Amino acid sequence: MKNKLKVLLIGGGGREHALAQSILQSSHLEELKVFPGNGGFDSHLILNSNEISITDKNKFLAYIKNSNTDLVVVGPEDPLVAGLADWCDEIQIPCFGPSAYCAQIEGSKHFAKEMMKDAYIPTASFAVFEDFHSSWSYSQKQMFPLVVKADGLAAGKGVTVALTLDEVKQALNDIFIEQKFGASGAKVVIESFLEGNEASLFVITDGKNYTCLPAAQDHKRAFDGDVGPNTGGMGAYAPAPIVSDTVLKEVKKTIIEPILAEFRNRKFPYKGLLYVGLMISKDQKPNVVEFNCRFGDPETQCVLRLIDEDILPIFYQASTNSLKSRDLKLKPGASAVVVLAAKGYPDAPMKGIELEIPPPADSVLVFHAGTKKDASDKLISTGGRILGITAVSISLKETLNQCYNFLSKISAPNTFYRRDIGKRAL
Ligand code: AMP
Ligand code: GLY
Repeated sequence: MKNKLKVLLIGGGGREHALAQSILQSSHLEELKVFPGNGGFDSHLILNSNEISITDKNKFLAYIKNSNTDLVVVGPEDPLVAGLADWCDEIQIPCFGPSAYCAQIEGSKHFAKEMMKDAYIPTASFAVFEDFHSSWSYSQKQMFPLVVKADGLAAGKGVTVALTLDEVKQALNDIFIEQKFGASGAKVVIESFLEGNEASLFVITDGKNYTCLPAAQDHKRAFDGDVGPNTGGMGAYAPAPIVSDTVLKEVKKTIIEPILAEFRNRKFPYKGLLYVGLMISKDQKPNVVEFNCRFGDPETQCVLRLIDEDILPIFYQASTNSLKSRDLKLKPGASAVVVLAAKGYPDAPMKGIELEIPPPADSVLVFHAGTKKDASDKLISTGGRILGITAVSISLKETLNQCYNFLSKISAPNTFYRRDIGKRAL
C-alpha cells in the first residue's frame, strides 16, 4: 500500500457520512472525494454529475483514471449488484465491495438461500416459485407465521412476515400480479419463521481472512415499542450483548467461514463487507435471516464509533487480498445512533423541512442522511431518514442520554424519532 491514498467514496446516506468521518481521520489519506454525498459533507469533497457517473461505466472509469484514485469504497448495494467493483477490477483499481457475482448474496434471495443450502449454513427452510398459483398452493399447506420474500432488491420493502393466508395472498399478489418489485422474472422465496432476537454483524474480508466488527441491534419499526411499519432502521446500538463470545464463535464456525469458503469454491472470492443478519434463538443458536453485500444503515453510524484504529488500511487490505484475520482494537463502552425522520416516513415522508442543528456537545456526532444545502446555504431535508445522532461513552445509558439530550436541541418541525432506542439492553 502507498503511504497516502486517494479515496473515492460512493453513496449519500448516513452510512456514507459515517464512513467518510472515519476515513477522514486516517493518517493514510491523501484525498477523499464523495459521490453523490449529502448536505452534511464539506462541499469541496463532493463530486458532481458532470465529473462522474456510477451508471455509465466509461464515465466512471475515466474519472478513476484521470483522478489517480487508489481505492474505491462503495456504500450502497445497487452499484455493487450492477457490477461497479468488476469495473474497477478491469483497470486493477482496488475496490472495497464485492463483485456483481458475490453481490447476488443480497441482490437475489434465491441465490442467497441456495448458497446457504450448499454450505450447510443454518437458516430458515425455504421454497422458491416463479408464479402465483404454485406459490399460493404451497403456502396453503404451511405453518404460520410464514415469511414471503420477493427475490430481487426491493429497498427493504419486499419481505412480509404473514400471520394469515390473507396476508400471504396480498404479498404474492404484489409480487406476481401487481409486479411491484420488477416486471420480468419475478420470483418468490417462501420461508419458515425464525424465532429469536435479531442482530447485525459486519464482517470485513478479503475472501479468505476476515475480521468482525462489534455486533449491533437495529430497530426496524417506525414507532416506540416496535410497532408501525418496517423502515430502513430508526436507530441502533452496539455492542449487542445478545452476540456473546460463545455466540460469535458459533457464528464464525457455522456461518462466516462456510460462506466465505463457498464463494472461494465457486471461484468468486468475496471481498469487502459482508453483512450477516442474524436471528439468535432462545438456546443461543444463530441462524441467518439475510446477507447484505454492504454496511448496514444506521448500524454503521454507531459501530464505526467503537473502532479504535485507522480503518483505511483495513479497507485497502480487504480490497487487495492482504487482510490478516484478527480482532480490531475497540473503544470500551457502548455507542448508539438515533435516527431523526421526516413525518410520514417510511410511506410518504415530508420533504423540504428546514433544519437547525446546534454544535455537537459531549461525544455526539451528527451524521446526515436525507439533507442538502439550498441555494442560500440553508440546510433542508430531502428524504425520510434525515439525521443520525450518535454518541459513544463508557455506558449505554450515558450514550443514550447524550443522543437524546442533543436531539431535544435540534430545531426540525414535522420530524419524529423513537424514544426507546437501546432500551432493551439497559
Ligand atoms: P430481510 O430483508 O430478509 O432481512 O427481512 C426483513 C426482516 O423481516 C428481517 O429483519 C426480519 O425481521 C424479518 N424476517 C425475514 N425473514 C425472517 C424469518 N425467516 N423469520 C422471522 N423473521 C424474518
Ligand atoms: N438497517 C438494515 C440494513 O441496513 O439493511
